[in-house]
Amino acid sequence: MLKNTHDFLQAKQDGGKLSLATCYDYTFARLLSETPLDAILVGDSAAMVMHGHPSTLYATVEMMRAHTEAVVRGAPSKFVIADMPFLSFRKGIPAALDTARQLMTTGAQAVKLEGVEGHEDVIERLVQSGVPVMGHLGLQPQSVHAYGGYRVQGRSEDSAEAILRQAKTLEALGAFAVVLECIPGTLACEITSALRIPTIGIGAGPQCDGQILVLHDLLGLNRDFQPKFARRFLCGANAVLDALERFDHEVKAGTFPSHEETYA
Ligand code: KIV
Repeated sequence: MLKNTHDFLQAKQDGGKLSLATCYDYTFARLLSETPLDAILVGDSAAMVMHGHPSTLYATVEMMRAHTEAVVRGAPSKFVIADMPFLSFRKGIPAALDTARQLMTTGAQAVKLEGVEGHEDVIERLVQSGVPVMGHLGLQPQSVHAYGGYRVQGRSEDSAEAILRQAKTLEALGAFAVVLECIPGTLACEITSALRIPTIGIGAGPQCDGQILVLHDLLGLNRDFQPKFARRFLCGANAVLDALERFDHEVKAGTFPSHEETYA
């Protein structure tokens, strides 16, 4: 388990793989705290997974702060990274610093933000101000409308070169790690070899230094959505539905609660 950003760099030097998952609430955070997972991301996917919005654009600083607070309470010994919501780091340095302050004072140890071009100054200032920054390149979900949908990035030579260049820029600006989302495995491998900081893949193949999945995807809780890369490690939706059906059945059959479940 990672305690600080130096451990991320050390893990890469040691050749170990890093495992991360998203989390948004206290109860799951408590469970995650019992696992060997290396770190937790309070992703802006909270807007979709927890609030039912159609994209991550709906995440707000207040929303991210509330989820991050709950996760830190549930997993106080884990390294927690909080996502900076859509445009919150594009309104200049003071606004970005204020957002980072709001997220970091929940107890999170780092922030994550998407992209690099056009906000290099913000990333540099955050890092200089003592805020560990994780980057996020490749498919940047906050740019879904610019892409015209969720599409694999870095397939063309130009696009692959741009992502490699952005990754090197992020490292030079002081980011401690970078998420690579939905890019070809060969490109992720090239970026991973070119960087000193660890790459954390999601839909970026096995050569990254670590992997991250959305918790509800890896637990199979979302039956309507299964991207190619999101392996289900549990049929969670079926397990939950089965439990609820059994509860309904036992209530209606009069077998719940039993004598033992009733106060004398
Ligand atoms: O918000 C999120 O869940 C993420 C992961 C997909 C990396 O950014």
